[in-house]
Amino acid sequence: MCLETMALTSAYHAPVLAAEVTELLRSATNVLDCTLGGGGHSLALLEAGVQTVIGVDRDPQALAAATTRLHSFAEAGRFSAVESNYAELDGLPSLQGMAFDGILLDLGISSHQVDESDRGFTFRQGTRLDMRMGTDVSTDAAGLLNTEDEATLTRIFKAFGDEPRAARLAHEIVRRRSNKPFETSDDLVGAIRAVLGARSGAGDFARLFQAVRIAVNDELPGLERALPSLRDRLTPGGTLAVIAYHSGEDRIVKHAMRSWSAACICPPKQPTCTCRGRALGTTLTKRALTASQDEVLQNPRARSARLRAWRSAA
Ligand SMILES: C[S@@+](CC[C@H](N)C(=O)[O-])C[C@H]1O[C@@H](n2cnc3c(N)ncnc32)[C@H](O)[C@@H]1O
Repeated sequence: MCLETMALTSAYHAPVLAAEVTELLRSATNVLDCTLGGGGHSLALLEAGVQTVIGVDRDPQALAAATTRLHSFAEAGRFSAVESNYAELDGLPSLQGMAFDGILLDLGISSHQVDESDRGFTFRQGTRLDMRMGTDVSTDAAGLLNTEDEATLTRIFKAFGDEPRAARLAHEIVRRRSNKPFETSDDLVGAIRAVLGARSGAGDFARLFQAVRIAVNDELPGLERALPSLRDRLTPGGTLAVIAYHSGEDRIVKHAMRSWSAACICPPKQPTCTCRGRALGTTLTKRALTASQDEVLQNPRARSARLRAWRSAA
């Protein structure tokens, strides 16, 4: 790990692709960090000379940790934090009418959220199945597993967990919960083992727990809803950078940026162009940027990271 990244790493979370994010956003004057987490990316940007950062997170624990970490910037009027789902920013009076020349989304959860057993994101033994990122989420993982019908559970494991035996797993969950409601990680691990076999292991548990987390927090629809409204908050020439860790998230980001970069956005069957053929902006990353081997060695979480960036037309 380079010295700069080491300085950004806290016990809370090590920011992924921090140098690449900083390079993309360093010339911005005001940045909206939609996924503040432990504040690692915000710190990197503030230290690189970005004038002001507004950090958003739906998790009050993350906001408290990052606010403590960045208090000197807050005192200097360069940092402030807002508790919200980034997909709901249009309803926030404090951000009404505000535009930014840099916007960052670093999706998913932080290491701290995984490490804290009482948050219920981990498959560690005896962990209560919670997985709610913030207080805006009403149904926890146990609630979802105990109430969703078999077809919905199948969709969750197939679409978010790429699980070929999604239907069998959903069936097994429905069968088991009729005897005893799901409460802890052991209940879900038991159902996964029963369907995938005794050789299933940590990789399978991580993938299928992640599928449940994505459903509990409504992550993909939220991202899909948020992207156009965040794009519209960019000033001309402003940059949107997104780090995704899940193929479904990355697909949404790639398609959104591709369609915003198309010269003509008229419906394909429309005989003549009425949009004047002017792209809304340019994709800056033809291929997603990924972490170096060195970064992955230091921070295995970086392995699945895909960074894409887009610049609005000047
Ligand atoms: C990967 S961490 C971000 C880490 C951060 N970039 C850093 O350097 O410490 C993702 C954070 O985004 C938050 N988050 C995820 N989805 C969110 C949403 N829809 N709205 C607001 N915050 C969200 C999570 O609570 C978590 O704290």
